[in-house]
Amino acid sequence: MNVRSPVITVDGPGGVGKGTLCQWLATQLGWPLLDSGALYRLTALAALRRNLILNDEPGIAPVAAGLAVAFTPGDDGALQVVLDGEDVSTVIRRETMGNAASQVAALPAVRAALLQRQRDFRQPPGLIADGRDMGTVVFPDAELKLFLTADADERAQRRYKQLIEKGMDANLGDLVKEIAERDARDAQRAIAPLKAAADAEVLDTTRLSIADVCQWALTLAQQRLAVRVIP
Ligand code: C5P
Repeated sequence: MNVRSPVITVDGPGGVGKGTLCQWLATQLGWPLLDSGALYRLTALAALRRNLILNDEPGIAPVAAGLAVAFTPGDDGALQVVLDGEDVSTVIRRETMGNAASQVAALPAVRAALLQRQRDFRQPPGLIADGRDMGTVVFPDAELKLFLTADADERAQRRYKQLIEKGMDANLGDLVKEIAERDARDAQRAIAPLKAAADAEVLDTTRLSIADVCQWALTLAQQRLAVRVIP
């Protein structure tokens, strides 16, 4: 790990648009992307496949530590996620798996097992880190910390649109409930709760377009890190 490589952290609740912003920033700057939520989703999937119950902390921590996962760029530019040799990119994106992820993410031993794996993504030329605790716990010394918010109804709509566009089943009413449940669990858990770092730049994106949010982030990155956009 090169501790001097710059990191831009992007935290916030589900459906707020972190993934879209992070992919865009990663492309603009030519930096790799850490999708930390995928690691929690993969841990939940691997635990369920081993018939573990989702609060079995001593059972799930070694599963998290031993995840055999590869992230490779897919044809559409999005990362393809391969677990134990199987492409699970679609399976882990289901909202039910987001909910399962938030249950295993509340277990301290699971978070501890994934910490170093996340820090190892920090390599030159820099890293875009997407999650809930990127700016507070995983990269507390990040050069730029962004925190996005949006009303819960707006986030449910965004998530609905995203799932439908990917050809996946989605029900808006269920999403509203699941997002509220997940927000409460993520924000109230004892370890690494969802919150903005004291030195984060916070943006309410409820009434903003994706282009507005991207421009806001890029301007801050250019001011703070003197980054160059890939022509
Ligand atoms: O971002 P995503 O929806 O993929 O995250 C799934 C779940 O994983 C979140 O609801 C949260 O509980 C957990 N998570 C976390 N810390 C992170 C990233 C995700 O606790 N850094």
